[in-house]
Amino acid sequence: MIPPDTESKEQTVSTADQPAGQQASVSQPTPAGDERAQGGHSIICKDLNAYYGQFHSIKGIDFVCPANEVTALIGPSGSGKSTVVRCMNRMHEEIPGARAEGSVKLDDLDVYGAGVDVTSVRRLIGMVFQKPNPFPTMSIFDNVAAGLRLTGTRSDNLRERVHRALRAVGLWGEVKNRLNAPGIGLSGGQQQRLCIARTVAVEPEVILMDEPCSALDPVATLKIEELIDELKERYTIVIVTHNMQQAARVANSTAFMLDGELIEHAPTNDIFTNPKDERTERYVTGKFG
Ligand SMILES: Nc1ncnc2c1ncn2[C@@H]1O[C@H](COP(=O)(O)OP(=O)(O)OP(=O)(O)O)[C@@H](O)[C@H]1O
Ligand SMILES: [Mg+2]
Repeated sequence: MIPPDTESKEQTVSTADQPAGQQASVSQPTPAGDERAQGGHSIICKDLNAYYGQFHSIKGIDFVCPANEVTALIGPSGSGKSTVVRCMNRMHEEIPGARAEGSVKLDDLDVYGAGVDVTSVRRLIGMVFQKPNPFPTMSIFDNVAAGLRLTGTRSDNLRERVHRALRAVGLWGEVKNRLNAPGIGLSGGQQQRLCIARTVAVEPEVILMDEPCSALDPVATLKIEELIDELKERYTIVIVTHNMQQAARVANSTAFMLDGELIEHAPTNDIFTNPKDERTERYVTGKFG
């Protein structure tokens, strides 16, 4: 449940079929950015199923990603990790023929509730992809501002919020003198932090990361891992990774997926040192996958 917080600003996710005041809502701590207090929100999947046409890809999983924690999702290629995170912010349904069933909640907000505005869901549950994907024609500043402009942020606030997001991802010192240079002129690791800044700038509640370091070298990877550790103070983070050392380094808990099922979800240390399921043990000890 959302913790009671009388100081917090109510953020409303508009629903087409509910009158004002009865809309699905989640409270959002104020303000976001540097002063943002703890008080994040959990993702709760119940009996989540996902399909690509006739193919039953995700088979009725129950999965809770606790607030202000990092939850890692591991498993062999094709086990369904990306599909699960895409179901969490309703990106899955963008794929032609794809659909999801069951329930995903952001605390008490039903992400798939009738009439819930998909754009609002994706603002609350942001996503960072495997390959850094800055908008190729945009400057560093405009890349971070892009989401804010879509949400109608006024230009006097815009500068401050872009700068704050760049500071939050540790990029400010590296780019402050070239904010108008193209985003794609940055190194791969910088580009990925730029994409995280773009996500953070709109002040989501949850950040989904699908293999965010797989295109990066070890030094850039370490920077992202340090950043994840800082971001969890303010955000709930779900990270898909093939790198088990990375899961061990960054995640509070780790979930193991196999063939569209969630086999086991436990504190990270338990998954790697004392897994309950023999299939988890075989995977984490490198015996398959
Ligand atoms: N667009 C799609 N159309 C049809 N089937 C798909 C599509 N995307 C994924 N699948 C199938 O769904 C299953 C789960 O795929 P998913 O991409 O979620 O796995 P993954 O665990 O993220 O794998 P990887 O580690 O390789 O990224 C696989 O069998 C895959 O072939
Ligand atoms: Mg994947």
